[in-house]
Amino acid sequence: MQHLLLIAFLSASLFLPYPPCVRGADLNSDKQALLAFASSLPRARKINWTLTTQVCTSWVGVTCTPDGKRVRMLRLPAVGLFGPMPSNILGKLDALEVLSLRSNRLTVSLPPDVASIPSLHSLYLQRNNLSGIIPTSLSSNLAYLDLSYNSFVGEIPLKVQNMTELTGLSLQNNSLSGPIPDLHLPKLRYLNLSYNNLSGPIPASLQKFPASSFLGNAFVCGFPLEPCPGTTPSPSPNAPPSQESNLEKFWRKHHKIIIIAILAGGAAILLILIIILVICICKRKRDGEPRAASSSSKGKGVAGGRGEKSKPEYSSGVQEAERNKLVFFEGCSYNFDLEDLLRASAEVLGKGSYGTTYKAVLEDGTTVVVKRLKEVVAGKKEFEQQMEIIDRLGQHQGVVPLRAFYYSKDEKLLVYDYVTPGSLSAALHGNKSAGRAPLDWETRVKISLGAARAIAHLHTGAGGKFIHGNIKSNNIILSRELNACVSDFGLAQLMATPHFHPRLVGYRAPEVLEAKKPTQKSDVYSFGVLLLEMLTGKAPLRSPGRDDSIEHLPRWVQSVVREEWTSEVFDVDLQRHPNTEDEMVQLLQVAMACVAVHPDQRPRMEQVVRRIEEIRSSGSGTTTRTSPEDKPREEHIQIT
Ligand SMILES: *[C@@H]1O[C@H](CO)[C@@H](O)[C@H](O)[C@H]1NC(C)=O
Ligand SMILES: *[C@@H]1O[C@H](CO)[C@@H](O)[C@H](O)[C@H]1NC(C)=O
Ligand SMILES: *[C@@H]1O[C@H](CO)[C@@H](O)[C@H](O)[C@H]1NC(C)=O
Ligand SMILES: *[C@@H]1O[C@H](CO)[C@@H](O)[C@H](O)[C@H]1NC(C)=O
Ligand SMILES: *[C@@H]1O[C@H](CO)[C@@H](O)[C@H](O)[C@H]1NC(C)=O
Ligand SMILES: *[C@@H]1O[C@H](CO)[C@@H](O)[C@H](O)[C@H]1NC(C)=O
Repeated sequence: MQHLLLIAFLSASLFLPYPPCVRGADLNSDKQALLAFASSLPRARKINWTLTTQVCTSWVGVTCTPDGKRVRMLRLPAVGLFGPMPSNILGKLDALEVLSLRSNRLTVSLPPDVASIPSLHSLYLQRNNLSGIIPTSLSSNLAYLDLSYNSFVGEIPLKVQNMTELTGLSLQNNSLSGPIPDLHLPKLRYLNLSYNNLSGPIPASLQKFPASSFLGNAFVCGFPLEPCPGTTPSPSPNAPPSQESNLEKFWRKHHKIIIIAILAGGAAILLILIIILVICICKRKRDGEPRAASSSSKGKGVAGGRGEKSKPEYSSGVQEAERNKLVFFEGCSYNFDLEDLLRASAEVLGKGSYGTTYKAVLEDGTTVVVKRLKEVVAGKKEFEQQMEIIDRLGQHQGVVPLRAFYYSKDEKLLVYDYVTPGSLSAALHGNKSAGRAPLDWETRVKISLGAARAIAHLHTGAGGKFIHGNIKSNNIILSRELNACVSDFGLAQLMATPHFHPRLVGYRAPEVLEAKKPTQKSDVYSFGVLLLEMLTGKAPLRSPGRDDSIEHLPRWVQSVVREEWTSEVFDVDLQRHPNTEDEMVQLLQVAMACVAVHPDQRPRMEQVVRRIEEIRSSGSGTTTRTSPEDKPREEHIQIT
């Protein structure tokens, strides 16, 4: 709940008018204050704030007002800040509305000048090591105050009673003592005072909150917790006698009818449950189909399609104790922690053979792709080693880099950059009626070459042993400039022996279907199928009710070519450019070499790259180059 409030509040605050500038403060004074703050704290991870760069556009974690005149938000969660929180520095940012320094290791105390910034709406300092008292000079405009999981002592300041804007107050897991103040705050929706050393009765104004708001305070009593000693217990035990006898009378009169009604009701509920179960089973079967899922299950498909926003599905297996164990790779400039990821709003992008992929939009607008792996058999060590390799291979413009991962017994998550929503599959087979322009030949060659180079990089980059393992058009992401970005690599080795869904065999090399162990040569086969897909415009998957899918694409192409109707195999969208047919035939030859039945007959990925480059260079020149090794095309296309 608290997350929703927060999100609602943050989006609302974007449209609030800004306080007029006071005391001639300007962006320059904000800049000086931020630099002073940065230099006062040793930092685990570098913050890229420098004198010469633009505060508003290139300083990480800083957001300015739309007119670019003041700093409005400072968010540096989980960046490894440690040491005493400096006083009389951040207080100078007097247009600041949101300050988040949570999940760092700040110590000593919360300086009064920070808590009292008049414009401050939201203050997140949870999960630090702050101690001392909570300053009494809290800003009256605070809407959200989170100081949980620190070591604050003393009483909850009475000033809180006057903070009429407050919607959320999180003070759990501190060492606060004294009474719980009576808070008549109309907007307060979330309250957590659990695990402190508070004492006394819970004021009537706060009894609407659940017991979990007050847990772990040995001396707190009253509803919703145990009644306070010495007080007459709450009204319920007084009333019973008369009520009970009324009930008994009613029961004696009508018990037969009641029993029959209960039995009938039970039977009806059972019937409904069975129907729901049958529907669920049917639905799950249908979800096995990858493309249908990626194109249709938009929105909050996560929690079974309920209309409301809920926690992402991938949060379920994450243990409370492990919330900070998201492992980031070096050089990654993301500024979030697992907690952020778990409260992000998530949308299903697709369900594949390795698990479900989500697009997650974090509180601060950062968008990432989260992949939730299922059926991982690799142990933690092996998993981590593979992640290291995947990270190293990610330093290439043609692949989607892995940014972070999370491994626990119940949940394995991978975090990738979010490139664009478009995959090659969508570009080739997406809804044509929606005014989508078909990919032209130039673009298809560019994508083929980019993908081939990236896969060749994967094959050679890590000692020549690495395997992509899952090449298909869904896993080629297209950037805005329509460059290919290869994703989803290196996971096959971590998975249980794959049981191929009949609809997924389209890209699998014959030997993989038998022995079930992918190799670099089976990657080449899959890439060949991908080339055929681009040339023919047909999807190599069985998909009922679609006329552009062919179950065994290589076999179909061979049969058409054997009938000497080579030009018939090409995508109708390509046939509009007559001058390119020669290049198309050349690429078809490359593709057919890749899908040779025997692994030994397939070229290596670097050879594939070179052959596509040759097509490129012959195509860009004015004259069509005919090199001596170019044999007549019919001989090249082996019929097997
Ligand atoms: C600092 O990091 C942010 C966030 O990654 C980035 O957008 C910005 O360009 C970087 N600034 C500089 C000067 O490198
Ligand atoms: C928090 O600070 C105390 C001393 O103030 C120190 O003993 C403790 O180790 C710190 N905890 C963490 C998690 O840094
Ligand atoms: C709350 O506000 C009232 C009226 O503005 C003031 O009289 C009172 O002293 C304030 N209480 C605290 C604890 O600041
Ligand atoms: C909060 O405090 C309770 C009780 O001491 C403890 O069980 C729980 O683990 C604490 N949570 C965290 C995240 O420290
Ligand atoms: C908690 O508060 C009680 C008094 O309310 C005090 O006797 C006790 O020492 C406190 N415990 C801690 C750990 O601060
Ligand atoms: C308050 O925090 C405690 C300790 O972390 C947690 O167990 C409890 O569920 C929280 N209560 C609410 C209402 O969120």
